[in-house]
Amino acid sequence: MQGSYRQTYSRWKDDPEAFWREAAAEISWFKPPAQTFSREGGPYGRWFAGGETNTCYNCLDRHVLAGRGDDTAFIYDSPISGTKAVFSYGDVLAEVSAIAATLRQRGIAKGDRVIIYMPMVPQAVFSMLACARIGAVHSVVFGGFAANELAARIDDSGAKLIITASCGLEPGRIVPYKPLVDQAIAISKSKPAHCLVLQRPQLAADLTAGRDEDFDTTVARNRGVTVECIPVSATDELYILYTSGTTGQPKGVVRDNGGHMVALNWSMANIFGIKQGEVFWAASDIGWVVGHSYIVYAPLLAGATSLIFEGKPVGTPDAGVFWRIASEHDVRVLFTAPTAFRAIRREDSDGVRLKAYPMPNFRALFLAGERADPETLKWAERMLDVPVIDHWWQTETGWPMVANPLGLEALPVKHGSPSMPMPGYSIHVLDDAGHAVEPGTLGNIVVELPLPPGCLPTLWNADERFHTAYLAEFPGYYKTADAGYIDEDGYLFIMSRTDDIINCAGHRLSTGAMEEVCATHPDVAECAVVGIADQVKGQVPCGFLVLKKNVSRETSAIESEVVQLIRDAIGPVASFKTAITVERLPKTRSGKILRGTMQKIADGVPWKMPATIDDPTILEEIAEALRKRGYGSLPM
Ligand code: COA
Ligand code: AMP
Repeated sequence: MQGSYRQTYSRWKDDPEAFWREAAAEISWFKPPAQTFSREGGPYGRWFAGGETNTCYNCLDRHVLAGRGDDTAFIYDSPISGTKAVFSYGDVLAEVSAIAATLRQRGIAKGDRVIIYMPMVPQAVFSMLACARIGAVHSVVFGGFAANELAARIDDSGAKLIITASCGLEPGRIVPYKPLVDQAIAISKSKPAHCLVLQRPQLAADLTAGRDEDFDTTVARNRGVTVECIPVSATDELYILYTSGTTGQPKGVVRDNGGHMVALNWSMANIFGIKQGEVFWAASDIGWVVGHSYIVYAPLLAGATSLIFEGKPVGTPDAGVFWRIASEHDVRVLFTAPTAFRAIRREDSDGVRLKAYPMPNFRALFLAGERADPETLKWAERMLDVPVIDHWWQTETGWPMVANPLGLEALPVKHGSPSMPMPGYSIHVLDDAGHAVEPGTLGNIVVELPLPPGCLPTLWNADERFHTAYLAEFPGYYKTADAGYIDEDGYLFIMSRTDDIINCAGHRLSTGAMEEVCATHPDVAECAVVGIADQVKGQVPCGFLVLKKNVSRETSAIESEVVQLIRDAIGPVASFKTAITVERLPKTRSGKILRGTMQKIADGVPWKMPATIDDPTILEEIAEALRKRGYGSLPM
């Protein structure tokens, strides 16, 4: 498989099907696929149709059957709870079988959906694998989302069962999960029949009779029960992961079994350069795609050891925790979001804590999830003295579209660019009319269809929405909704989103969804939410509120209520802390709110008076309102 980047990319381009057929030979199939790619069966086609396999089998059983049952599959390190544990492949297989048996006894069969709403505990990861084992479709919901968001996912997926925990742990506070689950089930139309609750020592949850059961007790009863892996079609769903769309209704990104394994397995060796038995650490959360792909599935497919981390890069207990863990567990490659490094740098700019931990085998740091600002990237390079690799992808693609493939060849780094397209991805930059632009010219970043294995084949129960959101605007291409350019050497630069999505601490948020919530406040007539620059989180949302004419209450009280509304409706993850009351919103003559200009003013970057503006004085009012809150003069 190894070879230089250009040779490998050309090999794919010359014969994509042969390339992926070869990659698929590394996966165990119960029935090999009849076809590598077929144009039928989905909005743009399907990979490995006719093949039968099982993701859990490939992650666990085949390693155990090959005599590697004692090798370490997971290391759990939770500085926030003071817990550490090590699980061999054999241990994980036993736990996963017991959970699979528990799910089966509760009527969960192939194709049924199971919601997992849990903190970063090993049982969450085992539960995902247990679903895969019996062909059930998991949908993991990030713990920082509120009950409403959970309810939307219960309804859209039609989940029959929920696995949750009594609480999550955040610095300085315990987050009770169970009341959120109860509230979500109360407001959802579709009612899951069962709820398994992992009781954590930090907080016990009340169980609802007839529906809730203690996770540990029920699973313990099934220890030793053998549950074989169910053969599933390569094209059957492995999971649904909801991600922010441009409305309050999240998009259910679907991942299949066959293509997903083929692509992730390829990426582990060729992009991340990880070999069997090595420790790989993706410091993310299983609620995000990074967690699905690179905490759970890819490391296991590769027979590596994956680290499950429950904590924060700073404050649990300090900015040295990443280095303590990397040193203690012999981590070879770390993957995290740039925001984590900005947080560490702010507290340990000279790397004093870093130097306290020897990491002789540490090979590389991979950054993704948001723009890696060159300053942070260079700081990480200086401190770590290993390659620091920016790479670009999305929940939708499931694995990197553009990267520097260390496993193949270290390409020269250009700061600010995630480097070059990976095999499977033919990336183009188009203007709004769909014409290719010259190198160096900003435009819409699109991917030629078909998307490679591992990418979403469609949205859950929403082929039409998939087509409208991703395929309709640029026929023959997948629209990434990112804007950027390709330079003369073929390096891609990502500059911004083309929709209302902002990236806050590596978390993807829809400002449109936040506006929908602000607008529900009885005193708010109109609102606009924009993402403004933040030195650690990259961007944070800021809401501008126009109040109804007859409102005489204190504006500060209304602003606090709106902040609380967002926290209750979307969740703390939205990091929505600032709402500002203004007299009017700046609009074009056709009535479009000038969010981009408001954002520039807030960020203190140069801005031009838009030619189409209806009333230029309104922007001065906005600038004044922002100045009063201390915004508008921040350097980018
Ligand atoms: N369950 C419940 N609440 C959660 C949560 C979870 N799993 N994760 C975050 N929250 C809460 C936080 O407690 C915080 O609440 P607060 O407003 O009461 O303080 C809020 O959601 C925002 O969290 P976060 O964005 O994580 O900000 P932070 O200030 O707690 O931490 C960083 C800042 C930079 C340290 C943190 O964002 C981080 O570690 N980022 C790493 C990036 C990452 O993992 N990205 C994933 C994609 S790769
Ligand atoms: P998510 O689906 O949460 O992974 O978010 C995907 C979005 O995050 C992308 O569409 C980009 O806007 C942004 N993103 C991810 N990785 C990068 C990167 N390396 N550089 C710039 N933006 C990125």
